[in-house]
Amino acid sequence: MTAYVILVSGRGSNMQALLDAALPGRCAAVISNRAGAGGLAIAAARGIPAVVVDHRDYPDRETFDAALAAEIERHAPALVLLAGFMRILGTGFVERFAGRLLNIHPSLLPAFRGVDTHARALAAGVRIHGCSVHFVTAALDGGPLIAQAAVPVLVGDDAASLGVRVLAAEHRLYPQVARWFLEGRLRLDGEHVKLRGERPPADTLFVPPLD
Ligand code: GRF
Repeated sequence: MTAYVILVSGRGSNMQALLDAALPGRCAAVISNRAGAGGLAIAAARGIPAVVVDHRDYPDRETFDAALAAEIERHAPALVLLAGFMRILGTGFVERFAGRLLNIHPSLLPAFRGVDTHARALAAGVRIHGCSVHFVTAALDGGPLIAQAAVPVLVGDDAASLGVRVLAAEHRLYPQVARWFLEGRLRLDGEHVKLRGERPPADTLFVPPLD
């Protein structure tokens, strides 16, 4: 079965959604840069190797990236999923995993790259917010978009209530995109995202053109 690896830094709810989705692949490991990440305990309880590569054990980004890449490669994954992984990865790392490295971001990219996306969306006064899954490139939250899901911004929302609504959308979107990839339907062709086969459901608002 095709192997995939998930990288987390925190609670791991997207990781859990991926594991719950019975994807057509085997989660070979969950790797965290933080020993206390909640996602590690969830993975270990499911019998999945839960590994720590602590960035504080390395003098600089290059050596951390190299250690992380070596740990990932041990599992020979076809796909690497960033799921709330809060370290910026260097160009060398990103190029090494180009075309098989995905991220989920809690905004409708290219709006609100970076952190605190829900508070910034509220401050900007947008009426529609959401999440995006993209191939990772060296541009922070800037790689080719694969799919997005939108949610309304409601009167009275604060960052927490909006975040809960977006997170529910994330938990549907990310497993769907991972499934496309593991089924061999999704690939990166240069800068272009290609998806073969059936159209996705209507709650996926942005999809790449079909081959
Ligand atoms: C999610 O909102 C994800 O989009 C962002 O970090 C958060 C991680 O949450 N990259 P969790 O650890 O998956 O619960």
